[in-house]
Formats: sequence, structure tokens, C-alpha cells
Amino acid sequence: MRAASQAQPNIALVKYWGKRDAALNLPVVGSISITLESLWTRTDVRFVPGHKEDRVSLNGRSDEAEGKRIKACLNLLRERAGVDYGAEVASRNNFPTAAGLASSASGFAALVHAGARALGLDLSLAEQSVLARRCSGSAARSLFGGYVEWAHGTLADGTDSVARPLLDAEAWPLRVAVAITSTAAKQVGSTEGMRRTAETSPYQSAWIDTQETDLGVARDAIRERDFDALARIAEYSCLKMHALALAAQPGLLYWNGATVECMHRVRALRQQGVPVFFTVDAGPQVKAVCAPSAIEQVKAALRDVAGVLDVLDTALGEGARAIVP
Ligand code: DP6
Repeated sequence: MRAASQAQPNIALVKYWGKRDAALNLPVVGSISITLESLWTRTDVRFVPGHKEDRVSLNGRSDEAEGKRIKACLNLLRERAGVDYGAEVASRNNFPTAAGLASSASGFAALVHAGARALGLDLSLAEQSVLARRCSGSAARSLFGGYVEWAHGTLADGTDSVARPLLDAEAWPLRVAVAITSTAAKQVGSTEGMRRTAETSPYQSAWIDTQETDLGVARDAIRERDFDALARIAEYSCLKMHALALAAQPGLLYWNGATVECMHRVRALRQQGVPVFFTVDAGPQVKAVCAPSAIEQVKAALRDVAGVLDVLDTALGEGARAIVP
């Protein structure tokens, strides 16, 4: 009744923002991401027959807010297996939690992957992606490696809102530098940010109406390994998502000064011919995606920005996998 899994965060190049069903956590738009390699969550899950309570530790500590979401995710797994045992969950990240680095994506992908095996459920990765999506949308994508698309789906029960791999990491091995500009937990989480945006931003319908085109452009760029086309569409989707959220009331401003300066540096490098582009999620960190040959230059340029605390560096990686507990 015990299993452990590792999953890595993913970074959306065409962003998910907005829900068509909050209870089932169904997205209003599809999205495309890349799964990272050297940042990870490792989660050990043990179900104990006879136990009624769940015990959850995150990086060695209990965390009430995350604990609630983890219990909700364990309930989905228990429902699926038809059991009511309590669980012991120990999860560790090797990167800052809740700072816009998609810890919920790797966290829930690892939890579903380990929890399903611990309960003896024989689920395909697509079925695990559906379960992970209900816990945190972006987690649907972290079951898979490389380049991944998550469909918004049209069915009311959400069974067609599932992620699928588009291209393996080795087929187009880009690198990612992550500029950490703050380690504080973000003030407005994605779930609340999306709700506020849908209720108050005047750009919500334009966002939804233009997403299919963006997904098509990104899919083509990935299939053809066209870096310039991917750079243009990814920066466009990122800035469009932030414009949408900035126009909510009150406006969602996830950036700090260093975030903006990093975006300028990345654009300046690209103008000099360096193959690099940026993307930013619901937090102040900047992810710079580049060709492997450019990684040292990109890291040096980001390190040079005032307010950048650290620059992490990762390749693209595989999806969720079993590890030894
Ligand atoms: C900006 O997946 O964290 O990173 O489904 O409410 O848990 P919930 O949201 P979450 O949102 C991620 C938003 C984003 C864009 C993306 O990853 O596509």
C-alpha cells in the first residue's frame, strides 16, 4: 500500500488562465507546456487500512492550505479505488514552493502517480492526467515529458480535458534559465486570480476567442522546431495573459521591477541574435527558454539584473515516474 513517485514542474508556453467549470477544474482554454528536468517533487504515499486520518508533510512541515488540497486529491484516489483508508504523505521539492514555479503542477502529478500505485489502481497516464487536473489544472501536463498539450475539452464531465505529449524532450532539447526575483509566496494564487479575472476583466472573451489560433501556431512551431515562431507565440501568450489579469479589478500585478528588467534583457539578447525568449506565470520569476548553446550567456545576463537572487538552469525532462520510496 506504499509507492513513491517523482514529477517535474512544467512551464506553459501557451497559457492556461480561466475555468469553464470550477468544481471539476475544467479550463476555458487549452494550453501547451514544456516539462522541466532538474527541478522536482518527490512524493511518498502510504495508505494505512484502519486509519481514518490523513497525515501530510511538505518539505518536512505540515501546511494547512496545501494539506486541504492534498486531502481532496487523496479523496479522488480513494473514491476511484473504493476504499476509505487514511494516508501518510511526505512530499519534498528541490525548489521554492508557491513562488510561481509551478510546485502544484509537479506536486499533484507526483501525488496522483504515487497514490494510484499505492492503491493498486492500474491507470493510464491519460487517466492520471484527468485526476491530476482536478487537483490543480497545470498538474495534468506534468504527467508527460517534453512538449505537452492539455485540451480544454467539451464534455461536461471533463473526461476529454486531458493532456497528451506533442514531442519528446530529446527531439528538441531546449534549455530553461529561471531567474528567481523573490522567494515569498505569491499574494493571489492562480485559482483566485482566475476567478477574479473571469468576473471582472473586460478582456476575458478576447482571451478565449484567440486561444485556438495561438495553440495552432505553437503546435506548428514545435512540429517544425521553429525557434523564432515559438519565441513569438510564447511571449505573446504570456503578455496577453498578464494583460488580461492586469485588467481585473483589483488588477493582478504578479511582476516586480526585476521581473520587468529580466524581460527587457531577454528581448535585448534576442535582438543581438541570441535564440532566447521569456515567459512569466502567476508570480515574479522569469523563465528564459533558449537553445542549449546560449544557456551560459542567458544565465550571465539574468544574473546581472539588480534584484535577481538566483538563476536556476534546467533542460527539458520526462514525465512522472516511479522512484524507490
Ligand atoms: C499562470 O494550475 O496553478 O501557471 O488549476 O487553479 O490549480 P489551478 O491553477 P494552476 O494555474 C496555472 C496558471 C499559469 C499558467 C499555466 O500553467 O498554464
